[in-house]
Amino acid sequence: MKNSYSNIFLFNKKTLEKTINYLNRNNIAGLPTETVYGLGGNAYSKIAIKKIFDLKERPSSNPLIVHYYDLNDAIKDVVINKHLIKLYQNLCPGPITFILKKKINSQIHPLASAKLKTIAIRFPKHRITRAILQKINFPLAMPSANKSMSVSPVNAQDVFYEFEKKIKLILNGGNSKIGIESTVVDLTSKPKILRPGVIGKNLIEKILGLKIKKNTKINFIKSPGMMKKHYSPGIPVLINQKKHDGESAFIYLGKKFKTKKDCFSLCKNFNLDIAASNLYKVFRLIKRKGYKKIQISKIPNTGSGIAINDRIKRASKFK
Ligand code: TXA
Ligand code: MG
Repeated sequence: MKNSYSNIFLFNKKTLEKTINYLNRNNIAGLPTETVYGLGGNAYSKIAIKKIFDLKERPSSNPLIVHYYDLNDAIKDVVINKHLIKLYQNLCPGPITFILKKKINSQIHPLASAKLKTIAIRFPKHRITRAILQKINFPLAMPSANKSMSVSPVNAQDVFYEFEKKIKLILNGGNSKIGIESTVVDLTSKPKILRPGVIGKNLIEKILGLKIKKNTKINFIKSPGMMKKHYSPGIPVLINQKKHDGESAFIYLGKKFKTKKDCFSLCKNFNLDIAASNLYKVFRLIKRKGYKKIQISKIPNTGSGIAINDRIKRASKFK
């Protein structure tokens, strides 16, 4: 059965089979995950990887995350270590990505990992993508399903708005619950957080029983996706704003301005996990309404607020 857009499909036995056949033929599908929607393709296939980079207009120097059903599948491609095992046991499947050394005989196509000696791997939780991963004989290279630099999609329609008919198959898995990209942790040496997410530093430290140094200087080669200008809604974003200028869209926490038409709350009761899950939804809504600028009030830099601040800071670099 189809949705209102002819390339968005509801999930059922038939569309599962269709998606698997489609991926087996080196095609790219828009797939739901609990964080954001992804553009999935066979990570072992040069043809599929090239299609992903072309669709996203992504620089070939920016590697993709490879998604597996479970650790048993990933062992073929990466060198595992004790940190990985602890984090995997406690947090997976879930919204966390691990950077690990690539095995010499790994079949991951070198273009997927931008010819690096490391690979980013993730075990997504969404039942639809897990059902697919369980049935295919390869892992899925899957970046967020947006054009390079812009905001990640959090539902099937968002993916359609990014690519329209350029993607022939998008599976509708509802709204992504987390709504913001996975935490990226480098486990190739002393654990480091390369991209903050809703799984925070404190929890990772607790599980590993060690302290993680604060990343003051991000190594851009180490994680090219951490480029400063990123996650942009395509209009100027001003952060730490105290006062609404009267014409921009104003994003804030709480319900103080709930009757004001240009004001958008990320969460009425200041829950930062909920606020993170609404961030991209609100960015897209504001863009659709035709606003020319976004102002965002100060967001507390704790818990998921750290990930929100990371993304809005990068979004604010767009001029
Ligand atoms: O939540 C997510 O992680 C989503 C869903 C679809 O799984 N995916 C996602 O992928 O956000 P992408 O490609 O938009 O972001 C991947 C990030 C980028 O910052 C990239 O530079 C980094 O992971 N990355 C990938 N491979 C890496 C590697 N070998 N070393 C360091 N960073 C890497
Ligand atoms: Mg992305």
